[in-house]
Amino acid sequence: MPDIQIHDKVFVPFISKEKIDSQLAVIAERINTDYAGKIPLVIGILNGSFIFAADLFRLLTIEAEISFIKLASYKGTTSTGNVVTAIGMEENLKGRHIIIVEDIIDTGKTLASFMPEILSRQPASVKIATFLSKPEALQHDVKADYCAFEVENNFVVGYGLDYDGLGRNLPELYVLK
Ligand code: IMP
Ligand code: MG
Repeated sequence: MPDIQIHDKVFVPFISKEKIDSQLAVIAERINTDYAGKIPLVIGILNGSFIFAADLFRLLTIEAEISFIKLASYKGTTSTGNVVTAIGMEENLKGRHIIIVEDIIDTGKTLASFMPEILSRQPASVKIATFLSKPEALQHDVKADYCAFEVENNFVVGYGLDYDGLGRNLPELYVLK
């Protein structure tokens, strides 16, 4: 796989589609076991999680529902620190088993600020599935229950993650050169 340029930056191949697929299979199997008979409601956080959520959801063999909400806290390669409130939470979460799906837990601010809103709706349980986490960058009390890859604190694009809007459609993950 060649290096790629997005806007002003060069990115190099980091995690292949084969590795992504095999890790997703592992996570999906755990979810299939943990949630058998529970009909979980998977909530994908847009935009970044849409590809991970779709691929993971396809691998679920149990009965499950999916919905998406929109939040945002990032512009460029550094956090703006702004977290926008959830848009599109129409489902009744009361008594439901919720699996939040994120593209990446970086500082953890997005999920830390969103969790109280979820919990206030009295779900039966809430777990977090994330495609990536950057343990070195974590600043909030957020922990993924299902994580495909723990990565170092470098900026990545592809598989749903963007650099200023671009790169989400790359099938593999790239890291800033
Ligand atoms: P948080 O810092 O955990 O709140 O992460 C906020 C959001 O920043 C994530 O959901 C991503 O959309 C975005 N983000 C964090 N790190 C990266 C990265 O390396 N590449 C692309 N987006 C990122
Ligand atoms: Mg995001």
